[in-house]
Amino acid sequence: MNNQRHSTHSRFYVTTPIYYVNDIPHIGHAYTTLAADIIARYNRLKGRDVFFLTGTDEHGQKVEKAAQEKGRTPKEHADIMVDNFKNLWIKLNVTNDAFIRTTDPEHIKIVQSLLMNLYEKGEIEKRLYTGWYCIPDERFWTEKELVDGNCPECKRPVEHISEENYFFLMSKYQKRLIHHIKENPTYILPEARRNEVLGFLENNVLGDLCISRPKGRLSWGITLPFDEKFVTYVWFDALLNYYSATRYLAPYTLPLSENWWPPDHHLIGKDILTTHAIYWSTMLMAIDMPLPRNIFAHGWWTVEGKKMSKSFGNFVDPNEMVNKYGIDSFRYFLFREVPFGLDGDFSEQALIKRNNTDLANDLGNLLSRTLTMIEKYYGGEIPQPPSYYIKGDLNNIKETNIMILVEEVKNIGEIELEHLMKGLLFSHVLEKIWSVINFANKLIEVEAPWNLWKAKNTDKLSGVLYTLAETLRILAIYLFPFMPSAAEEMWRQLNVKGDLSEANLENEGKWGLLMPGEKIKKGSILFPRIETSRKTRIRNLS
Ligand code: MSP
Repeated sequence: MNNQRHSTHSRFYVTTPIYYVNDIPHIGHAYTTLAADIIARYNRLKGRDVFFLTGTDEHGQKVEKAAQEKGRTPKEHADIMVDNFKNLWIKLNVTNDAFIRTTDPEHIKIVQSLLMNLYEKGEIEKRLYTGWYCIPDERFWTEKELVDGNCPECKRPVEHISEENYFFLMSKYQKRLIHHIKENPTYILPEARRNEVLGFLENNVLGDLCISRPKGRLSWGITLPFDEKFVTYVWFDALLNYYSATRYLAPYTLPLSENWWPPDHHLIGKDILTTHAIYWSTMLMAIDMPLPRNIFAHGWWTVEGKKMSKSFGNFVDPNEMVNKYGIDSFRYFLFREVPFGLDGDFSEQALIKRNNTDLANDLGNLLSRTLTMIEKYYGGEIPQPPSYYIKGDLNNIKETNIMILVEEVKNIGEIELEHLMKGLLFSHVLEKIWSVINFANKLIEVEAPWNLWKAKNTDKLSGVLYTLAETLRILAIYLFPFMPSAAEEMWRQLNVKGDLSEANLENEGKWGLLMPGEKIKKGSILFPRIETSRKTRIRNLS
């Protein structure tokens, strides 16, 4: 039984990169993790069994160096730094099902057993290697790849190194990988990124991957099970987290955790596409496991037009943003402002503008106007309109505006959401929802309930108000993945019974479940306006 349930399409597995614990989290980390949260929450609403994994990457030179600078051992450092991530996810309302650390003994054991397996199969070989090594990026480059003698990625100086190392024979999978990407058009998204990877693979000869570091140079890592003088390359260890987590952290471990494999989405930033699209894909081929269904590389945020960096003084601490503007405004801004996949620019002014227009004016006002009118004309009880309004019966509703509104609300839930969420088109989802919100606000102006009240047109008045309240109840379900607290507050004020986090889109998303006669609980303003000080305005103009 269990077996069947979890091996069908109803299970859904989404991951974020695991973050280095060398520094504190910034907006880039928050962005990927929130995207995964939106996807996870949406799929739970669809009734799927979800495994949402995030975690930390704790080995390697970066972490070792950061620990040294603080006078700590790498593990002490990791134990301290990991809480910055865990606490941020709690603060941002992130519903990850598990948190993996690459220093978990279970993870280490799995990495070692896979390494052994690959070594025994002849997928890993020892060779003398001479090349150029970039310490910050922890990778080798050939002479040809250097740019002005420096690392082509970070532009910093490289060191000439000659030593024995172990190599994963990645090159032999080049053709198979090209074939896989061609056969599976959504394997790598967005399309521009897919073309980049494909172009690279078609125009270059793929080398083999050096997957060891002599302990004399780096000791903070997982020891190679077949040669204890070496640790494994941090990326080899880190990428395997996606698999190892299914073996000891996934919610359902029976009959075998293979039931969570392969993942539906690996969400990553564009800078780590090569490691995922090429290293990870070929590693999986060698291990003989199915590839993930999708690798999605999102864009990068600049801040006030500049690359974010501590030295520019424009480092965005998500904790600070949330303290200043609230969780849901922050979440909304990130996914409404820029289509997922493209680069974007973060500025507090832009966030404030979104908050004041979309959230306070459009959504907040729609809720408060609707509830105020229900209070005023119906003593705070959901009105009882003619039954075709409750049924959302498009053939019998006489007012074209109301008909269109009901049709649009239904259409999003029945068709559009699934289609857009599958493509991770978050900003499009929000645009769709806002087109309904704006239409509902216009409907209030056009139908003018205050005139219907004066004219004692109670059929229509109750129809308009019921439709608006029911629209808001259903929109809260659609909005829940993006702005969980605001959506819950909408349900609370409408006095909807039940818990949104347990709602099912198909059941609770049906039109007409709002009960006439229920007392609403109008509460505080959903999104207060944020006043900008003159000083910030001037700074932004200059
Ligand atoms: N540890 C590796 C990932 C291993 S996954 C098996 C790593 N960690 S990281 O801490 O550097 O986090 C990187 C993530 O943050 C990447 O997805 C990266 O794209 C993202 N971002 C870093 N700066 C960013 C922006 N300015 N904007 C958006 N995302 C950015 O890499």
